[in-house]
Amino acid sequence: MNKVEVIHTPALLPLYSLNDKVVVVIDILRATTTMCVAFNTGVNKILPVASPDECLMFKEFDFIIAAERNAEKVPGFDMGNSPFEYENPFLAGKNIAFTTTNGTKAIKMAKAMNPNCILIGSFLNITALCNRIKESGKDLVLLCSGWKDKYNLEDTLFAGAVIHQQLSSAYEMHDDAALSAYFLFEQHQHDLEAVVRKSSHAKRFTLLHLQTDDVKFCLQQDTITLVPEMEGEFLVNKTATQIAG
Ligand code: MLT
Repeated sequence: MNKVEVIHTPALLPLYSLNDKVVVVIDILRATTTMCVAFNTGVNKILPVASPDECLMFKEFDFIIAAERNAEKVPGFDMGNSPFEYENPFLAGKNIAFTTTNGTKAIKMAKAMNPNCILIGSFLNITALCNRIKESGKDLVLLCSGWKDKYNLEDTLFAGAVIHQQLSSAYEMHDDAALSAYFLFEQHQHDLEAVVRKSSHAKRFTLLHLQTDDVKFCLQQDTITLVPEMEGEFLVNKTATQIAG
């Protein structure tokens, strides 16, 4: 029987092996949600990069450059990290170099640990993601991006939601980290928005006076049927490649 593990923050990664496992990177507010939206709009590739300085270098290679730090767009960049920005049809066919406080960092850390594959998860694509996981036949790691190496509520809730869907198939919870995510989701599955609005990141949005309701947006379920996946250094939408080619 395949196993599922939950890693509640990237700081815990050194305690785990990702070797030959399917890794789902989770940053519900907002990086992995935003990535799903970008591919749904028709973005070609996303290059996760470590820092705004590195991201800037891709401007001359005709990339859209996107950078967020502390939930705000970094001055001088084309785009920030609100999923609403990535619904713009102008982005279809474009390549994006992207750096965020936690999400892109978690992706790069996972990549360095030789997993079988890295998938991008959000509530928007949860059923497509779970189907993709089931097809893999591999052990599963749900990697929460957290906030600056600390635990956050919304990523763990999502990990619990994935386990909830996975339990109907052949996955067993490997440890208490997975069990606690599962129990958290079980307890709050009918009041997710109220719970996530209490989270520290939602409070951060309030303090920044965000003009859009990103919490509500990021908790929509199954509005997207694709699963972004790492291919080399890039995130791509393999479904689009298969259809095109
Ligand atoms: C991150 O990667 O830390 C986030 O997605 C922060 C945000 O922009 O909400």
